[in-house]
Amino acid sequence: MSHHDDDDNFNDSPNEHFQQVLERGTRAPLTRRHLIRGGVGLAALSSIPFLAGCGGGGSDPAPAPPAAPGETSLGFSAIDKSLLDDVVLPAGYSYSVLHATGDRLFSTETAYSNTGAETDDWSRRIGDHHDGMDLFYVDALGNYTTQDTGRAVLAVNHESSADAHFFHPTGQTTNGVSGKKFSQFGGWDLGTRLESEVLKEINHHGVSIAEVRRTGSTWALQLDSGLNRRVTAQTVMDIAGPAAHLADIRSLMVTKYDTSGATSRGTLNNCGHGKTPWGTYLACEENWAAYFFMPAGSVDVDARTKVARQRYGVMRAPNAAATAGSQGWSAVASAGTDSRFGRWDVSAPGATAAQDYRNEPNTFGYIVEIDPLRPGATPAKRVAMGRFAHEAAVCSIPVAGQPLAFYMGCDSQNEYVYKFVSAAPWDPADVGGGMAAGHKYLDEGRLYVARFNDTGAGEWLELDIANPLIAGYAPYTFAHQADVLVHARHAADALGATKMDRPEWGAVNPKNGDVYFTMTNNSSRNVAGTDAANPRAYADNDGNAGSGNPNGHIVRLSEQGGAPGAAAFTWDIFLFGAEADAGADINLSGLTDANDFSSPDGLWFSPASGICWIQTDDGAYTDQTNCMLLAAIPGAVGDGGPVTVNNSLGGSTGTEGTFIGAALGEARLRRFLVGPTGCEITGITETADGRTMFVNVQHPGERTGAYGTGPFVLQSQWPGVSTVNYAPAGRPRSATIVITRADGGVIGL
Ligand code: FEO
Ligand code: CA
Ligand code: CA
Ligand code: CA
Repeated sequence: MSHHDDDDNFNDSPNEHFQQVLERGTRAPLTRRHLIRGGVGLAALSSIPFLAGCGGGGSDPAPAPPAAPGETSLGFSAIDKSLLDDVVLPAGYSYSVLHATGDRLFSTETAYSNTGAETDDWSRRIGDHHDGMDLFYVDALGNYTTQDTGRAVLAVNHESSADAHFFHPTGQTTNGVSGKKFSQFGGWDLGTRLESEVLKEINHHGVSIAEVRRTGSTWALQLDSGLNRRVTAQTVMDIAGPAAHLADIRSLMVTKYDTSGATSRGTLNNCGHGKTPWGTYLACEENWAAYFFMPAGSVDVDARTKVARQRYGVMRAPNAAATAGSQGWSAVASAGTDSRFGRWDVSAPGATAAQDYRNEPNTFGYIVEIDPLRPGATPAKRVAMGRFAHEAAVCSIPVAGQPLAFYMGCDSQNEYVYKFVSAAPWDPADVGGGMAAGHKYLDEGRLYVARFNDTGAGEWLELDIANPLIAGYAPYTFAHQADVLVHARHAADALGATKMDRPEWGAVNPKNGDVYFTMTNNSSRNVAGTDAANPRAYADNDGNAGSGNPNGHIVRLSEQGGAPGAAAFTWDIFLFGAEADAGADINLSGLTDANDFSSPDGLWFSPASGICWIQTDDGAYTDQTNCMLLAAIPGAVGDGGPVTVNNSLGGSTGTEGTFIGAALGEARLRRFLVGPTGCEITGITETADGRTMFVNVQHPGERTGAYGTGPFVLQSQWPGVSTVNYAPAGRPRSATIVITRADGGVIGL
């Protein structure tokens, strides 16, 4: 498992697909699928008010309507798919690099060598694997403002150490042997790792916060700014949560480091992100579970803890040699006395949890709030928002006097979509309120998980210990509400949430509040397991990349009454990823060579242009194109209609009814950017005027080969050898790029 692939299934929970529940007749006498099969469904369905323009029961995409009133149109020509080792953009656009892996934040550090020669611990440099990011403007007094002042802080997540071999001269070293990725040493023999290497790897994780300033139309990183800061996998964090449950929450966080459980150290695998209306940054902890280890023969944890770890992918098989991808950070010689390393060994040798690090995994899996403009502010883990493989946290349109909703995906196969609704109604006077405002809105509230039913409606199910389904859940016995929050996956299982095709980023359309979620792909979906919201099971078009739902799709929902706290919603599928030459039952959105894509991941709406930007992290179409960024004109939930999908996979056939948005066509969906070889395109924001776009290129050249004792054979040399030739050349580097138009216009229009 590579830490950014997320391609694992830890959900063997007994909760059924909602379809199965329906078919047992416990909730409704007829399923939508039955209605369609019976040939009487369309009349019944047409009475559902949001279904405009219902087509027939076949799989032809609904016709493209004209853009909705007030919607803009795309103003660039779609670019072709590309296998070039460069960033490709439409005519009239160009890019530069703002910062890349290893760039120094302070002049006390050496300029990055790109040879692994650094002798510092990486805690004052830009991390690796650039991911979610956001821009925070700074006013003349140093406070947060939504006005473009030309001075800002850019916060960037640094997700994974899957490319950490590039940080060291000849790769990662174990037992004195180097020249490999750590994960390529056989049998997870952790051996002995070098302290200096492990420190670099620990510190490149987390978030970089860098001041950037505009001169003319060019943005540049400000070396030595007092706002420059690194949050790493060692930074001290507050454990925060609802007052009524905080003592119970902290009881689950007790470690030798802080026996009160009030604080923990570090954040890991920060993937998607969020920006709060009051101006703080949310770094989301995704594949944190893969970093822990229990050496063979060490003292095991209790049976209940094993159940919990199993569901989260921590120690897939307790005490087995094969774990879920530990980086071996506990395998340095000083781990027994230096807890910076020892804490990644989560065995239980102590008499109590206060004497070891068995609870260390409980301190990860959260939304982490950071005040990007106050370097002294301690980040907080917002436990009320649940513990899972957090992908991103996207806020509803803030309306004074109404609660705020934060929509969140859990990115693994067959995991769920959640929302957190604040107890406090939004007060615009809290803009600039920093961590205190975060305490107000993110510590007190209700946590829900989504069930997408087969009628195009959906329900938000509250994770509340008072619910008998949770209180009486047999596979994992909850002790209290704090346990429900910390083991949210189990609670969501108990409620019968809908198992999705790997929920990645969410985004909220600022024009109408519709909530979009990418379902990036799911190799474990089969024909019998399809449901209306995850309706496809098929083999990769050219047989190169497995089966299930290899190309992914984008679901969107509209809250009942437009209320962020609603208990019900309507939904449809905005887009299905597909190769353009795939059959009609796979290419349900009618994609063409101008806009076909696979594995949607990053997702963001530009407030300036209204464009829905879609980023890909793919392995199913990469034989024909590198990962990409597409622009879409969104429309609204319900602008398409129902279809029946004919599935065929592995000898099984079946049909699945679903609801899809109107086909966008080339007028409303175009490929805007293709990245360099081996990369993922992820993370996107713009200046307030929409004329400068920031995009992250993650892990170019990740499949770098030939890990012998000789030099690396580089799959990519971007950005050192490319249009921009960002020095020093050599190994590939993740980077934030800045895109502008030659004529200074709004990006995409
Ligand atoms: Fe880090 Fe779910 O992608
Ligand atoms: Ca991602
Ligand atoms: Ca991904
Ligand atoms: Ca393919």
